[in-house]
Amino acid sequence: MAKYLVQGGLPLAGTARVHGAKNSILPVLAGSLLNGSKEKIRLKEVPLLGDVRAMLSILTRLGAQVDREGADLLLQTGALDCYHVPDVLMREMRSSIFLMGPLLGRLGRVRICYPGGCAIGKRPINLHLEGLQRLGAIIEERDGYIEARGRLRGSEVPLVYPSVGATENLMLAAVCARGETVIQNAACEPEIVDLQNFLNTIGARISGAGSSMIKIRGGTELRGGSYRVFPDRIVAGTFLLAAAVTRGTVTVEESVPEHLAVLTGFLKRAGADVAVNGSAVTVSAAGRLKGLSGVETGPYPGFPTDLQPQLLACLALAEGDSTITERVFNTRFHHLPELRKMGAKIELHGHRAAIRGVEGLNGAVVRATDLRAGAALVLAALAAAGESEILEIKHIERGYDRFPETLAGMGARISREEAVREEASLG
Ligand code: EPZ
Repeated sequence: MAKYLVQGGLPLAGTARVHGAKNSILPVLAGSLLNGSKEKIRLKEVPLLGDVRAMLSILTRLGAQVDREGADLLLQTGALDCYHVPDVLMREMRSSIFLMGPLLGRLGRVRICYPGGCAIGKRPINLHLEGLQRLGAIIEERDGYIEARGRLRGSEVPLVYPSVGATENLMLAAVCARGETVIQNAACEPEIVDLQNFLNTIGARISGAGSSMIKIRGGTELRGGSYRVFPDRIVAGTFLLAAAVTRGTVTVEESVPEHLAVLTGFLKRAGADVAVNGSAVTVSAAGRLKGLSGVETGPYPGFPTDLQPQLLACLALAEGDSTITERVFNTRFHHLPELRKMGAKIELHGHRAAIRGVEGLNGAVVRATDLRAGAALVLAALAAAGESEILEIKHIERGYDRFPETLAGMGARISREEAVREEASLG
């Protein structure tokens, strides 16, 4: 199992280029299945993240042709011939649930195993299934499998919670439904806007993404096209928090500043300097951050749950007390025990973390439990005195491309090591 070795205590200084957003690329790849023509879809500059590789394996198994041209992906999905997403691939990445929409829409049938939960919670899919039923799908759940079939027709689909994945799944299904679909209380995340823009590029007719009401006029024939997703706002936010926690200065180029506004607002409140220059955002911190009380995660444009672990790691070193409440997922605090190994003083009261800022953290051997918790541990290790080892980094590499290289390019002492297998003792 690979690990990161980090020598902490060095302020970062430099510029980070941010790759395309993982949480846009995944639904966009699923959406490429809607193209029944022989024309190719070109996705520009797609990082080969762990989750992206998993999704490409699924598309290939379903009959898509996937080629790489430099950093671009070329997809041909005219010969889609399988409606069953392989169990092992489904379990590898639960967010493949939004393959239901395109497969059901394109083939009139889809069969998946129940995606199951993960470290940050149960991850139910009731909103996906209820929404697809509103579009006319007949859904059966039996022996751990979900089978959906039927010809879809447009409808009003009110979501009781603005679920990102359910919004995406329903957008994808509605493109093939006869008539118009209106998703109410839709998620407003930038990744939803990215998906709308991509689908319209290949011939769909969708409007309203970014607001809580999205209209999809179904039944259009889709074709090829080329598209580049937004820069990853969570990766960008992680690098800006790395500047704050190491008391350095980091600029993320080619970001979308408005996607980072709620984070930079909190960083300013905590005493960091923030500068925006076109698509570049710079954060610098000369001293310790001040504690922040009352931070709560929530659907966009609220504070993103995907930056909660990373902000918490920074506030562990702040001057004074902080509180962060996790309102999106029900168990997204697995980074707390690992941060405590480094000397952080954090108590958990239900969904609220109470953090008492300390002068310094000490390097330790810690384990990434999930993607963003792992990123938080890297940030803490960069600021800690001495050496840290971060184990199980496969979680981190699901969503961060060239993470150690980018940090090292800004002065961090971090390296990736393949853990040496214990030599079998010669009997
Ligand atoms: C997406 O997950 C992202 N993943 C997550 O990023 C992100 O944290 C999340 O949106 C919130 O922004 C991808 O886009 C691949 P939700 P998703 O449906 O779609 C409950 C990362 O680190 N819910 O908005 O699963 C659910 O349990 C990942 O990159 C239901 O109850 O998020 C959760 O509590 C982590 N029933 C809440 O809604 C449902 O049918 C938000 O989930 C669906 C969701």
